[in-house]
Amino acid sequence: MTTWQDRARTLTDQLAAEGVLAPGWREAFESTPRHVFVPEFYRRDDGALISGADRAQRDEWLAAVYSDDSLTTQRATVPGIDIAWPTSSSTMPSLMARMLTLLDVQDGQRVMEIGTGTGYNAALLCYRLGAANVTSIDIDPALVDAARDRLAELGYRPHLTAGDGALGIPALAPYDRIIATCAVPEVPPAWITQLRIGGSIVADVRGELASSLVVLHKANADTAVGAFLDVPGHFMWLRAEAGSPFRTPGTFGAQLDHSSTSTRTTTLDPAILDDPGFRFVLQLDEPGIKLPGTISYDNGPDRLLVQAEDGSWVEIDGNTVVEGGPRRLWAVIEGAVATWDKHGRPARDRFGITASINQPARYWVDSPDNDWR
Ligand SMILES: C[S@@+](CC[C@H](N)C(=O)[O-])C[C@H]1O[C@@H](n2cnc3c(N)ncnc32)[C@H](O)[C@@H]1O
Repeated sequence: MTTWQDRARTLTDQLAAEGVLAPGWREAFESTPRHVFVPEFYRRDDGALISGADRAQRDEWLAAVYSDDSLTTQRATVPGIDIAWPTSSSTMPSLMARMLTLLDVQDGQRVMEIGTGTGYNAALLCYRLGAANVTSIDIDPALVDAARDRLAELGYRPHLTAGDGALGIPALAPYDRIIATCAVPEVPPAWITQLRIGGSIVADVRGELASSLVVLHKANADTAVGAFLDVPGHFMWLRAEAGSPFRTPGTFGAQLDHSSTSTRTTTLDPAILDDPGFRFVLQLDEPGIKLPGTISYDNGPDRLLVQAEDGSWVEIDGNTVVEGGPRRLWAVIEGAVATWDKHGRPARDRFGITASINQPARYWVDSPDNDWR
């Protein structure tokens, strides 16, 4: 009979072979029962709930739990929209292994995790560092309660809190390391404040077009500096409230503003919007920019839509550009291409951030003194 320990060992071997698992984390992955933290999950293909408590589903459940897959464990439906959005999951083990490796913890260090979720990652941290050194926060009190019970089953009693992880947990600061398992558009100032000088943050700093892990080190009382990796996180957003899947309460973001429309031609090939490198730099210039897809018109060709957070938008059909809203968005896109060209079209792993407590983030190429803009 295959035991969970056999399955955990096989998965751990796979992570080690992929080169994403530092030797210091091997025992934690082999010894931590992921099935305790994921008693059920929503199957990706059809959304069916697969439960370990159902004899008929047990084999499928166990195989998934000990596979290198992210498993959705909670969803929310939004009134008026017939889609269930994931609001919590157990992250892909290889991504967890990679982030924990990047965290570069040493014995005795104190870690704050943002996004407790199932509690599995907190369990890995407890195994490696001892529960007394682990603090974790989730916006959803029900998730925190469930994670607390599961962790207690393994004998771990880390400090768990329900609340907005953007604010951290000041009462237990400072931390040597911060790991965020939900995505942020920029590093919240509280994380910098609550980190020890010399400490590190591993997070997914992303927009709607591209996602990248970043490792920052706190350089002085109010600044952390770090580099983007060529590794996406694709984490769900750090949300404003429990129960809603959105970053901002109850909304997808701004509606299109149809005032002040204009039409012009462009020499810029819109295919550049498919380039992952350009998508990354465009969202540095225009955080919150979205590419919702194409729009079909009865009496004309499909047009590619690009949308900004202030309601500005542009539709592109070949070299024809139709724009509306407070700003001309295509000019912003042309400007981002010009800046990218000026730097020789660097890939995203040549970019870094200088994040400050009291100033907007500064992005740079290759070194902090070579400003992106
Ligand atoms: C990918 S899951 C975390 C996975 C988790 N680390 C695990 O091992 O199961 C992301 C989590 O972030 C949480 N989250 C979202 N917004 C948050 C916020 N503002 N503060 C704290 N947690 C938040 C979600 O509720 C969700 O449980």
